[in-house]
Amino acid sequence: MPEELIIAQGLTKEEKYKSLLPQIRALIGEEPDLIANLANLASALKYGMNFFWVGFYLVKDDELVLGPFQGPVACTRIEKGKGVCGKAWETGDTQIVPNVDEFPGHIACSSESKSEIVIPVFKDGEVRLVLDVDSNELDTFDQTDQRYLQEILKFL
Ligand code: SME
Repeated sequence: MPEELIIAQGLTKEEKYKSLLPQIRALIGEEPDLIANLANLASALKYGMNFFWVGFYLVKDDELVLGPFQGPVACTRIEKGKGVCGKAWETGDTQIVPNVDEFPGHIACSSESKSEIVIPVFKDGEVRLVLDVDSNELDTFDQTDQRYLQEILKFL
């Protein structure tokens, strides 16, 4: 496991992901504890990519419950189908939201959040958790984020 994340400056988004990928793989390594891995992943993405908010919501009974995150405090529970996270859970599809004000039912945990990506993570054919990344700028996320974040989530 690396002692500390190496975060190069002045890279493109894709270069940043490429530099982070092997570091995150090493960080998770053979560690089996999900919460420990989610906690490190939230930190690695927050500081490695300089995102505004990075965190996980875990499926518990019939709700999403806040898990490890980095950034301002957030809502603790989200119903299925509600907000961007609830929609990703319900549909099983990644949600890329360029402008949260235009997403019907968006749940505003922070007034500073402007755009968002939510990626569901499956186990045994069911969504077990979602990764939620928020930006304080409009239109931050695209297919590049989706592709690399999905790669990273495979390490879990
Ligand atoms: N905006 C999310 C809620 C979680 S916060 O952004 C951390 C949503 O609409 O599901």
